[in-house]
Amino acid sequence: MTDSNPAVVLVTGGSGLVGKGIEHIINTEPVGSRFGKRPNETWIFATSSEADLRDPEQTRKLFDKYKPTHVIHLAAMVGGLFKNMKYKLTFLRDNVLMNDNVLHTACERKTQKVISCLSTCVFPDKVEYPLDETKIHLGPPHSSNFGYAHAKRLVDVQNHAYKEEFGCNFTSAIPTNVFGPHDNFDLEGAHVIPALIHKCYLAKKNNTPFIVAGTGKPLRQFIYSYDLAKLFIWQLREYDDVEPVILSVGEDEEVSIKDVADAIVKAVDFKGEYAFDTTRADGQFRKPASNKKLLELMGGFEFTPFDQALAASVKWFLDNYNNARTGNV
Ligand SMILES: NC(=O)c1ccc[n+]([C@@H]2O[C@H](COP(=O)([O-])OP(=O)(O)OC[C@H]3O[C@@H](n4cnc5c(N)ncnc54)[C@H](OP(=O)(O)O)[C@@H]3O)[C@@H](O)[C@H]2O)c1
Repeated sequence: MTDSNPAVVLVTGGSGLVGKGIEHIINTEPVGSRFGKRPNETWIFATSSEADLRDPEQTRKLFDKYKPTHVIHLAAMVGGLFKNMKYKLTFLRDNVLMNDNVLHTACERKTQKVISCLSTCVFPDKVEYPLDETKIHLGPPHSSNFGYAHAKRLVDVQNHAYKEEFGCNFTSAIPTNVFGPHDNFDLEGAHVIPALIHKCYLAKKNNTPFIVAGTGKPLRQFIYSYDLAKLFIWQLREYDDVEPVILSVGEDEEVSIKDVADAIVKAVDFKGEYAFDTTRADGQFRKPASNKKLLELMGGFEFTPFDQALAASVKWFLDNYNNARTGNV
């Protein structure tokens, strides 16, 4: 990506958590700065109502309408553990279809670069920690999300095949757990942070206890969607290799589920009964991922402190409750 040639960046999944994060950063960072818009760039944030990417014809029409020179492919069927366990085939098939249509069309239309989004859930269940970019295919994924994981892993295989057969500049990003404004707060499909924010909000509103499933001890790496947005923009402009990059805070910045719940209680200003249901399963204690490759390539990056990012996400939820994805009809 150069400063002089016109660029059209198409972000698929532009209405989701990560897409909205990129839209916010590209529109608020100073023009011409490392993460801000460049004068020669047009950014398009596509939604599923504009094109259902499971459909090849709709995908082609979307590309022909905007003629993107670059694509950040975020669109996916995404969900927490419960949804992943219940809809394995749909996770596999919908994601395979979307990824195949986007990559095939990008190759046909000679798109200069595509970054697709994987997830640390795609890593093998049994693997030596910390996770790094070389370990994706070293064993089967956890059985609870094998549909999603195999669909996403296949993107890395496709990227290599497109590069070798057609010389395409396709690559992928591997974020850890993301949170921020515009998250999915629907308790049926939400990830842990938006689910706990919504539960705490309801506990305060209904004057009921705030109960967190499990012991609260497991540790996770969470990345704020606005930080992740900057890392995607860096990868788009400054990284040209097929191998994926883990986009995450460091292993030393893991936080426990209890830390998360404590920060939510504070941000929601919840004063009622707050407890852990230790009869519920905890999941894996920790699954640390290394961000060494990222930091070496970028030359360092300042992540937003977790409590600050969480407070901003809670504020967004409270301010936007009526329009947020809460599952309420
Ligand atoms: N959230 C996380 O913790 C996390 C962690 C690691 C990786 N990721 C990855 O990050 C990417 C973005 O995730 P997210 O959390 O932003 O998800 P999200 O908030 O659920 O948004 C999903 C996006 O995909 C679009 N989409 C879904 N089905 C589509 C279809 N058939 N055709 C076109 N667009 C479709 C949605 O469009 P509409 O809203 O218009 O339907 C929405 O814009 C995904 O690839 C995901 O796997 C997420």
